[in-house]
Formats: sequence, C-alpha cells, structure tokens
Amino acid sequence: MTELGTLDRTRIRELFDLRGPTYALLGGSYHDDPYPVWHRLREQAPVHPGVLHELTGFEGPAMFVGLPEPDREHFTTFSYEACEAVYRAPETFAQWPDPVDPAVGELSPVNSMLFMNGPGHKRYRGLVQPSFVPSKAQWWIRNWVEEAVHTLIDGIVEDGHAELNVDFCAAIPVLTITGSFGIPVERALDVRAAILAPMEIVEILTPIVESRRANPQDDLISILVHAEMKDEDGTVHRLSDAEIYSFALLLLAAGSGTTWKQMGITLHLLLQRPELLAAVREDREALRLVIKESLRWMPTDPMFSRYTTKDVDFYGVHMPKGSVVHINLAAANRDPARWDRPDEFDIYRAQKPTFAFGSGPHVCLGMHVAFAELTTAIGALLDRLPNLRLDPAAESPRIIGMYERAATEIPVLFDAGDRRNARG
Ligand code: HEM
Repeated sequence: MTELGTLDRTRIRELFDLRGPTYALLGGSYHDDPYPVWHRLREQAPVHPGVLHELTGFEGPAMFVGLPEPDREHFTTFSYEACEAVYRAPETFAQWPDPVDPAVGELSPVNSMLFMNGPGHKRYRGLVQPSFVPSKAQWWIRNWVEEAVHTLIDGIVEDGHAELNVDFCAAIPVLTITGSFGIPVERALDVRAAILAPMEIVEILTPIVESRRANPQDDLISILVHAEMKDEDGTVHRLSDAEIYSFALLLLAAGSGTTWKQMGITLHLLLQRPELLAAVREDREALRLVIKESLRWMPTDPMFSRYTTKDVDFYGVHMPKGSVVHINLAAANRDPARWDRPDEFDIYRAQKPTFAFGSGPHVCLGMHVAFAELTTAIGALLDRLPNLRLDPAAESPRIIGMYERAATEIPVLFDAGDRRNARG
C-alpha cells in the first residue's frame, strides 16, 4: 500500500484538527475540563432540564445528534443509573422521532440504521454484525489496519520526531474503513471531506458496488452487496443501492470519526505517565487495560441523545412526549456511585462495563474494530519507535472539544536509526 504516500498531510490537518473549521460547529472551541461541572450537576440531581453544553456553561456553537431542535424540550442525564435507564427503555427513549426507512428515504446519514427503532433496526444491524464480532478483529487487522499503521510509521521512523495526533492517529481509522469499502487510498480523504455531501460518496462507491456485484472480494462492501435481508413479511431480498449507500454513509462516518480521537486521548495519557508507558512496553496485556480505562476516563464522544415517545416522569422530572434526552455517558463513566476515585486514571481498578460505546440495541457496532485499531497502532509505535516520549520543547497536549473530544497535538521524540525501527 505504498500509495499511502499520496495522503496529503495539510488536508488531513484541515479535516481533523479540532481547532480548525471542521470541528468549529461541534464545540471545538471548548477548551475547559467539563468534569468538575458535571460532578456538581450530578450531585444536585441525576437528570436536569436543559442541553448539555449550556448546562456546562459553554455558549457554543456546539452541534451534535439531537441538537439544536429549538422546538422541543431538552433534558440531560448525569448519573450512571439514569443513563442506563434511558438505554434500557428504547420504546420510551427512541433513537429518532420519525420513522426511518433507508430503502425509500432520501440519502443522508440520518436515514440509516443508527436512527431506526425496534425490529427494523435489528434486521439491518444483523446483516453486518457478523463482520464486527471479536473473532473478526484479525480480519480487519490483517486486511487493513496493519498495513496502514506500518506504512505511516515508515514515513516518520527516520525523523526522530513526529506529531502523532493528526499525522498518525487521524489517518488510521479513515484508511481502515475506506479500505474495507474498496475505496482507493487516494480517495480516502475525499470520502471524509464529503461526509455531509452524500452524493459525492455515492459517486465514489458506484463503480465499486457494480464491480463487487459481479466479482465479490474479501471486503465489507462485498458482504453488503451480497447480503440477504428478510423483511417483516418473510420476503428475502438483496439490498437495494439506496440501502447499501445508507449503510456506507453511516459506517464511513462512524468508522473514521471516533477512533482516531480516542487513540490520541490514550496516547496523551500514556505519554504523560512515563512509568505506565514503561510498564506497557514490558507487558502488552496492560495496553488493553490502558485503552479500556481511557474509554472510561475520557470517551471521545461524551453524549448521544434519544426522543421520548410519550410523556414520562423520570427521576422526578416531567418530560413531555417528543422531548430530547441527552445521555451524558461521559459523566456516567465517572459516577462515584459506580467507581471509587472516579477522576483517577487507574488501569488496575476493578473492571466494570462503561458507556464509552453506548449500551442497548444501538451499542457501538464497531467497538471491536476500534479496539483492534487502538491496540495495533499503539503497540506498533511502542515496538518501532524506541524511547518514544513527549517533546519537552513543544506545547504539552491538551484535550479539548465539547461533543467531540480529542487531543490538540501530540509532539513526540524517539530514537531514529535504531535497528528496532524496522518492521517486525
Ligand atoms: C473509540 C472509537 C469509538 C467510539 C468511542 C464509538 C462510540 C459509539 C457510541 C457511543 C455509539 C452509540 C450511539 C448511540 O447510542 O446513539 C456508537 C454507535 C455506532 N458505532 Fe461506534 N464508536 C467508535 C468506533 C466505531 C467504529 C470504528 C465503527 C465502524 C467501523 C463504529 C460504528 C458504529 C455504528 C455503525 C454505530 C451505530 C450502531 C447502531 O445504530 O446499531 N464505531 N459508537
């Protein structure tokens, strides 16, 4: 995959730097630590009327799923228990207020299974689920992740210094997911740039869909093109082009937008703790614990939302039908009722499930792919860049962002020209 050299670093920066225009509307200009405010709010009540960023004291702009919806009432949940109660009652707290049908609706990221409720969602999700189970992690690693990771490291290994957040982390998930759709490397960034312009992505995908119909390959797009779906009345049919493109838009957006930020958050945590870094170098099993704790301690997307399907009284708050309920899963992940010393980053704490990947029927489909990307990428950095450390002369990384949280930059130094730099 030497074409990786064709990736334009300036364009990667434009698309992925949280301080740039792409993230401005998602709260990229929020630079504070929200957790002290969230603790205070949780202590006052598990559920508050209002929108998360406003309750946090941030005026915005800050857009995300479930916003702005000015004509609806808004509520935000802060305790683990209240967040879990929302996840567990999808009939009351629905993914979307209107019916969604990718077979007939207009092509848009909203017209996808992420916004479907009930059995329809289950049928669509069931089609791709087998490609995202833990035993498929090696398929993803072998086919796409490993090559992307090592080729990116090849590009920096002789320099002795690098910026890892955007130049390394950002590129890996976008290359992995576009690779699984058969999209050539030179178009990978075009796909990312066009996430809100579906027709441009369709244009890229059309010849690939046609070619996989005739000649399936060992990739995700071939699985989608040949998948058979059983409708409510028992009829079995192959997915239409509209259904395939709806899946593609969701997976390309979800697959390329999250993992890179979590990778940066995890690296920032590791590099600021040299003793932990040394422990992980010695014992790679510890890397899994670091990633899990990073997902608890600072999930990159702190909030997802639901719509009430009827009037509900919930933890002492009355929510009229059609309200938007924002699940502050990041606050739930630090609820002291569930975790001792919740603000401490402690990889050896008792293991309990967190909400970093959500919960319930819409729990993250790609979580094992994300884990595969995180372990492969961080493991390879530790293997191939000896004495990897933060650059003491550069500004220290900070975590910023409201609804999409990520590191600013991760400037590092390492020993170049060491024989260990070679690919394993
Ligand atoms: C660290 C990385 C990731 C995080 C933190 C994350 C987080 C989440 C969360 C919280 C949800 C639930 C949304 C909700 O409750 O409304 C979700 C759903 C989803 N994620 Fe991820 N995600 C990550 C990586 C990925 C990757 C790599 C993929 C694809 C390859 C992916 C695909 C999806 C899809 C398709 C859904 C919707 C599932 C459904 O509606 O049934 N995610 N993700």
